[in-house]
Amino acid sequence: MPVYCITGTNRGLGLEFVRQLAQSGDNTIIAATRSLSSNLGDLKAVASPSTHILECDTSNVQSIHSFVKGVSQTLGSDKKIDFLLNSAGVNLASSQSSLNLSPDELQTQMAINVIGPAKIVELLLDASLLSNDVRILNMSSGLGSMQRASEIKPRKCAGYSISKAGLNMLTVHQSEDLKAQLPGVVVILMDPGWVKTRLGGAGAELEPSESIGGMLQVLHGLSGEDNGSFYHYSGEKIPW
Ligand SMILES: NC(=O)c1ccc[n+]([C@@H]2O[C@H](COP(=O)([O-])OP(=O)(O)OC[C@H]3O[C@@H](n4cnc5c(N)ncnc54)[C@H](OP(=O)(O)O)[C@@H]3O)[C@@H](O)[C@H]2O)c1
Repeated sequence: MPVYCITGTNRGLGLEFVRQLAQSGDNTIIAATRSLSSNLGDLKAVASPSTHILECDTSNVQSIHSFVKGVSQTLGSDKKIDFLLNSAGVNLASSQSSLNLSPDELQTQMAINVIGPAKIVELLLDASLLSNDVRILNMSSGLGSMQRASEIKPRKCAGYSISKAGLNMLTVHQSEDLKAQLPGVVVILMDPGWVKTRLGGAGAELEPSESIGGMLQVLHGLSGEDNGSFYHYSGEKIPW
């Protein structure tokens, strides 16, 4: 009975993770969503009886504390998280380059795309809610790769790209720092490809089902030597 914990599940890639994982009655799913007051119709429609919808605003440390308490109450004393999927993310002001960055939008992207996944891991660890061989997926982007970002034409999404590069470095640190307490841990970064969601836009290349299907295959095939790796949804490694 594996336990999955996923952020940003009311729409987009997070929703598709829940849809695919809920097809097995063996999976316990903690489906985190920024606000329980928003429209959760799509999430409720795909949820299984063992899907638990909890609130977690990943830009707000107090909300993450409350979420961790809710996870603890939901799982009780005998279950821990086997798969943590940090999917929630934002791409704000995508037309901005490094020459006209807005500080407010860059700070918001750093809060949601970097600080959120850092505090979620830290507080779930402190509450002893991560299994010894937990798999943690931090959702990055090709735009977080130094090499890929240098090749983008036309130039765009500078703030988002900077925040995802920060998430990549966070992952390098987490993959080493967690080993002392969780010897079997594997933390990876994933580039989901360019996917048709609100963030990816209608003109994107992939359906969410294909991207998530690929990512779950990678996730379920991970071994210890993958700790700290950066993968494409197709299973290829991404250049840093
Ligand atoms: N789609 C792509 O082509 C693509 C490519 C590369 C990387 N990614 C990455 O994939 C991840 C998922 O993106 P997506 O395509 O699914 O985007 P999306 O359709 O725009 O969905 C984003 C999700 O993140 C949630 N979210 C945003 N801010 C949050 C916060 N403060 N707290 C909790 N949840 C929050 C949203 O919730 P609300 O509805 O409440 O705002 C929504 O559920 C992101 O990390 C993104 O950077 C996507």
